[in-house]
Formats: sequence, C-alpha cells, structure tokens
Amino acid sequence: MKTQEYLLFCFLTFYFIGVSFAQLAKCAEPGCPANGIWGEWKNDTKSICNMTCGGCGTSFQTRECLSTPVCNCTGNSHRYIGCNFGACEYPTQKTCCPPYLPMVINGVYMCGPVPKTIESTACCPQTDLFSPWTGWQLSGNTWNRTRKCIAESIGCPCTAASTQTQTQPPCGQPGDATDYCKNIPVGRGVKHQDLVMNDGEDSAYLVMIGKNQDGNTYCQSLTDKYGAGMEFEGVLLIMQDASGVCTTDTVFDCSPINSTIGNATFTCNGTSGNWIYDYTGKEVIRTVIGSWV
Ligand SMILES: *[C@@H]1O[C@H](CO)[C@@H](O)[C@H](O)[C@H]1NC(C)=O
Ligand SMILES: *[C@@H]1O[C@H](CO)[C@@H](O)[C@H](O)[C@H]1NC(C)=O
Ligand SMILES: *[C@@H]1O[C@H](CO)[C@@H](O)[C@H](O)[C@H]1NC(C)=O
Ligand SMILES: *[C@@H]1O[C@H](CO)[C@@H](O)[C@H](O)[C@H]1NC(C)=O
Ligand SMILES: *[C@@H]1O[C@H](CO)[C@@H](O)[C@H](O)[C@H]1NC(C)=O
Ligand SMILES: *[C@@H]1O[C@H](CO)[C@@H](O)[C@H](O)[C@H]1NC(C)=O
Ligand SMILES: *[C@@H]1O[C@H](CO)[C@@H](O)[C@H](O)[C@H]1NC(C)=O
Repeated sequence: MKTQEYLLFCFLTFYFIGVSFAQLAKCAEPGCPANGIWGEWKNDTKSICNMTCGGCGTSFQTRECLSTPVCNCTGNSHRYIGCNFGACEYPTQKTCCPPYLPMVINGVYMCGPVPKTIESTACCPQTDLFSPWTGWQLSGNTWNRTRKCIAESIGCPCTAASTQTQTQPPCGQPGDATDYCKNIPVGRGVKHQDLVMNDGEDSAYLVMIGKNQDGNTYCQSLTDKYGAGMEFEGVLLIMQDASGVCTTDTVFDCSPINSTIGNATFTCNGTSGNWIYDYTGKEVIRTVIGSWV
C-alpha cells in the first residue's frame, strides 16, 4: 500500500469507528440507564425460521444483560420474532400470514410491514459505569487489579482506567489488637508494631522483639508445669481474625540461644486484602506482641 492510500485507509477506519461510537446518545438520566444495558438480539441454534415465507414462521432470539449486577436490566432476555417475509408463491393457500399483508417494499413484493428487528433503546451512561474491581493479583513483581467498563461493548468507552498496578502489597496494616484481645493473659506488657512489607512481593514480616523499652529482656519463662519443666521461654504473637477470635502463637523461643528477636511471616491475600499468618494459614486483622505469662 502506498503512503497516501495507507493514510486514507487510516482516516476512513478511524472516521467510521468514530461514527459508530458516536451513534448512541447519552442517557437522559444519570447512573444506570432506565432498562440497564442490553446486548444486541442474537440468533442461536434455535433461531432457524420454521417457515420459508409469508412471515408465517417465527425465530427465537436471545440477548444478554451486559450491565448486571451493577445496573440490572428490565425486559425479556428472549423473544420470538416473525421471519422470512417474502411472499409465499403458488400453490400455498395464503400469500401472507396475518397480520402481514402483501405489499411492495423497496421494489420487492413481500409481506409487511416488516417488524423492526433492531429496536435499540441503548444509550451511553452519563458517567463511567464499571463492574467492581477484581481482587489484586501478583504478576511478576507487580500487583494488579482490573474492572470492566460495562458499556464499552455497545460503543461507550469509559474515561477512567480499567486497570490499576502497584508494587506495594495491597493488604493493609493489621490494627492494634491490644484492646481487642484482653482475654489473652500476657506477661510484662504488650507492644503493637507494624508489619514490614516487601515491595513487589506478597510477603511481609513482623519483627518480634523480646525486649522492653529499657532494653531488658522481654522473653519470659512459662510458669506452668509443662513449660517450666522444659525451660521454654518465648514471645507471643497475639492475633485477632475477622470473626473477632483472638489466637496466639509463640513465634520464637528465646531460651536456647539468648535470642530476643525473631520474625513472624505473613502472606497477602489480594482478594480479601488481609494478611495471612503463614504458620496457621489464618487471616489476621489485628496483632499485638506480648510475652508468656
Ligand atoms: C436471525 O434469524 C432471522 C430468522 O431466521 C433472520 O431473519 C435474521 O436475519 C437473522 N439475524 C442475524 C443477525 O443473523
Ligand atoms: C414456529 O415456532 C413457534 C415457536 O415454537 C410456534 O409457536 C409456531 O406455531 C411455529 N410456526 C409454524 C408455522 O410451525
Ligand atoms: C441486581 O440483581 C441482583 C440479583 O437479583 C441483586 O443481588 C443486586 O443487588 C441487584 N443490583 C442492583 C443494583 O439493584
Ligand atoms: C494482571 O495479573 C494477571 C495474573 O497474574 C495477569 O494475567 C495479567 O496479565 C496482569 N495484567 C496486567 C495489566 O499486568
Ligand atoms: C547467653 O547469655 C549469657 C548471659 O548474657 C551468656 O553468658 C552466654 O554466653 C549466652 N549464650 C549464647 C549462646 O550466646
Ligand atoms: C527478618 O526478616 C528480614 C527480611 O527477610 C531479615 O532481613 C531479618 O534478618 C529477619 N530477622 C530475623 C531475626 O530473622
Ligand atoms: C482470600 O480471601 C478470599 C475472600 O475473602 C477467600 O475466599 C479466600 O479463601 C482467601 N484465601 C486464602 C488463601 O485464605
């Protein structure tokens, strides 16, 4: 193709796409269009006209509500319409089946008036209408989520973006469980700390420090028979799940190596936006660090 022809081709292509997008008027009302957004009527395998002439047969068609559940559609999702409107020829008894009458349409002898097959009430929403966001997904080192511009397929594109990407994990910081998990007995006080999130990953860790503000060890021996006998000593992670239940885990044992620091690790659930504590596989919404009683 020569350059000029190519440019003309581009011009025509975009000109006609532009025209087809401009075909639908803006809806009269803001928000959801009155009847929702219907796709076009479509023929399927059951659509074959059961008569060859006279508008005597019917054809089955279906259409899909494109905007559910954001804007629910009203009206039928299937219909029967007349079909094959050519006049019947001798020796059939009738030329046309009621309510159609023989007439000449565009120079052709047929049965009419032919019902409109395209009865589009579609309009472009005044503002962007999107499906809800999908959950966040980690793709390589990037988190992304998408949503569907619901009127796009009828030629009404949205102005806002349908995709969001970020490197920071989409799970929020768990809250402070201090006031929510008072039923858990703890030793020398509690301390809330933020998770350290790993950019471009689905992981985070919580640095569990077994020291109090004065630098004294925060690790404390279990005083019950079993724990004391085994000389266990550790720091507790206290966690509240979405249903309000508080559970604990001894993230590390301080006693054998004089350890006063350890990590609790978490994985981000991009669908719920909550962190999952790796050791239990449970989602947590609040955390606090305490020591054994
Ligand atoms: C659907 O089927 C009807 C009846 O057979 C026919 O008149 C019409 O042209 C068909 N429409 C499409 C889009 O194929
Ligand atoms: C065509 O099919 C429709 C729907 O099944 C039926 O109501 C109608 O009587 C049929 N017409 C003929 C001519 O068979
Ligand atoms: C649409 O219909 C569904 C199912 O009937 C319902 O759950 C939903 O709330 C409706 N949405 C709106 C916007 O009315
Ligand atoms: C979003 O993540 C999904 C799943 O990992 C991937 O298939 C898709 O290509 C990503 N989209 C973008 C825009 O990065
Ligand atoms: C543990 O701490 C004690 C007292 O500070 C010290 O004597 C000992 O060497 C430490 N043990 C280890 C394994 O670091
Ligand atoms: C905690 O995890 C971070 C990141 O993986 C690491 O740099 C740090 O050394 C860990 N700390 C402990 C005490 O394991
Ligand atoms: C992530 O969250 C979704 C929505 O709450 C939930 O259905 C799914 O089971 C969770 N996945 C894991 C691994 O916990």
